[in-house]
Amino acid sequence: MTLVTGYFGVQQTWNHYRFKEARPQSAGYVPGLPRLGFPAQWQTDAGIGVATQREAPPALERTALPSGMLTAATWNPPLAERGGAMIGSEARASGFNVMLAGGVNLMREPGNGRNFEYGGEDPLLAGTMVGSLVRGIQSNHIVATVKHFALNDQETGRNRVNVVIDEAAARMSDLLAFQFAIEHGDPGSIMCSYNLVNGAYACQNDWLLNQVLKSEWGFKGYVMTDWGAQHDTVLNAKHGLDQETGVSELGKYVFIDKLALAIEHKQVDRTRLDDMVRRIARTLIAKGAVDDPVQPGPIDFAAHAQVTQAAAEEGFVLLKNQGVLPLTAKTSRIAVIGGHADVGVLSGGGSAQVYSPGGIAVPGLGPKDWPGPIVYSRSSPLAALRSELPKSTISWQSGSDLAAAAAAAREADVAIVFVTQWTTESLDFSLNLPDGQDELVAAVARANQRTLVVLETGGPVLMPWLDQVAGVLEAWYPGSQGGPAIARVLSGAVNPSGHLPVTFPRALKQLPRTKPAGGDVANDAQFDVHYDEGAAVGYRWYAKKGQSPLFPFGHGLSYTTFTQSKLAARVEGGELKVRFTVRNSGKLAGKSVAQIYVSPAAGGWESPQRLGAFSKVELAPGASQELTVTIDPRLLANYEPKRRAFRIAPGAYRVTLATSARDVGQTVSVSLAERVIPSK
Ligand code: BGC
Repeated sequence: MTLVTGYFGVQQTWNHYRFKEARPQSAGYVPGLPRLGFPAQWQTDAGIGVATQREAPPALERTALPSGMLTAATWNPPLAERGGAMIGSEARASGFNVMLAGGVNLMREPGNGRNFEYGGEDPLLAGTMVGSLVRGIQSNHIVATVKHFALNDQETGRNRVNVVIDEAAARMSDLLAFQFAIEHGDPGSIMCSYNLVNGAYACQNDWLLNQVLKSEWGFKGYVMTDWGAQHDTVLNAKHGLDQETGVSELGKYVFIDKLALAIEHKQVDRTRLDDMVRRIARTLIAKGAVDDPVQPGPIDFAAHAQVTQAAAEEGFVLLKNQGVLPLTAKTSRIAVIGGHADVGVLSGGGSAQVYSPGGIAVPGLGPKDWPGPIVYSRSSPLAALRSELPKSTISWQSGSDLAAAAAAAREADVAIVFVTQWTTESLDFSLNLPDGQDELVAAVARANQRTLVVLETGGPVLMPWLDQVAGVLEAWYPGSQGGPAIARVLSGAVNPSGHLPVTFPRALKQLPRTKPAGGDVANDAQFDVHYDEGAAVGYRWYAKKGQSPLFPFGHGLSYTTFTQSKLAARVEGGELKVRFTVRNSGKLAGKSVAQIYVSPAAGGWESPQRLGAFSKVELAPGASQELTVTIDPRLLANYEPKRRAFRIAPGAYRVTLATSARDVGQTVSVSLAERVIPSK
């Protein structure tokens, strides 16, 4: 019984169960079985590093990777794996053997406050990138937890929202992202989510947990609840839950002693408890957490700073550049304005909050209680720019005084406006920048034509000033080393190579829903959200509707130019292989992201376009490389619930080589035979 109940890790006044053995500032604790030599499970959040819960100070100060969204924007799976290995090693060295990462919910709502934790809007990209992070984490002989299973795609009413979705659509979108992440990363555990799916809570959803995850996908690990997402002992146990977590108050538990009673009353079969325990124990043994017990120890922060900086430098997306970047040593006067760029870079809030070394750069911002405060990491873009460009005169304005900001911009060769949007777990957000920052950008752009905007946002925002500025760099939440990473990309020391993992809308009316559902529903009432867009999430939706977004999925500029050519597609051993050549046709070394989109000539998918494969390659000026990628057959198929299988319809398919979902180049046609891919 001990192994199936987990407790809240932090020692709050409201905790009923206090375990002094829990690690400080941690998410959770499951006592061990000393009699059997079985260790406790020490659980920490999350995807960008070892997080700090809201316990009394001191916070744990740990290296913060950039946001999950930024990592997805690198389109570089080995880099994500390296980041995972780094944060996993810090988890180990902090005494944790379970890391509650990574999140792979698709971006259906650009306003979802947790988009920054996730891998974007495409199942292949998100699943591959998050799976890679997980693989890196687990290389430290600890368990990673893929979450939040499933369709937990908004924070508004997250405990009450019932997601209504057609099964086939779910299989080809959100569930496919989980499937890819699981296949790629082999996580030891899965966290079921707070919401309901088609009428049943995700943590007691027989279809999701028993049928899809455990039976069809053959998942051998264990399912834990999101913190407090357990509801009903019998339904939880019967429908596939293996571990309840976050128990903190009397009554808010379902397993501790209630499960024994349910077994005694024959409401739950005893073998189910055996299965829970076997899954948990097997996983900890298989991942190495039993033979190689965690031990708090030293952390090489200097080495880890390099890992997070390298990740940040590859995930910034140059959205627009009309000759303003890179800044050169010849740019003698630069005005830096706004976004607290004098002291730090923004991070996302909630349970995934990491306090990076040095703590909070701007105290006193945001909500006093959960999910606040707003945390800026101590890594100053302004200071880093000054050291990157020692010959330039770089002025600073906070942006609070529009006239002063405009005056500084007027005197400079280039004005750089930093704008920020804090997003966090438990809240959803408007896509408009807060605090008058649109007015700030407009005022600066009026004063200086060479205005560059650096965005620090969780996901997409609207840009009413876009036509007035010369350049835009999306820096997301860039992590502990965001300052130097931004400075090096602006100066050209690093050639940007990030590409959008999400579509940026031109206007809210382009979206399936203009905002997350349920904002107007009374606090305790359940409500439905109908995902009528089905599997047409993100760019698939825009393609289906023939809409042109502000910036398309896959978009990202470089300081060099690439050409793509010689596209050829053939079926080999039953798999669709695609070959093409990428050449660096410019004067600087750089990394290109080639994207392959697929579609059936006869139609019949949720959208005329799906990402089939991608490949990132680094090329010296003038160099070229031939690349071959394999298209996962499920991306060429529709899911057919009656067969419990994906099926490729026989016929002609278009294969397109592209640099974004809308910037498409060569297309070839290939004929595919019928193929059924059972999901088992
Ligand atoms: C979040 C999870 C997190 C857990 C533990 C919940 O509020 O939804 O992502 O792992 O708390 O902190």
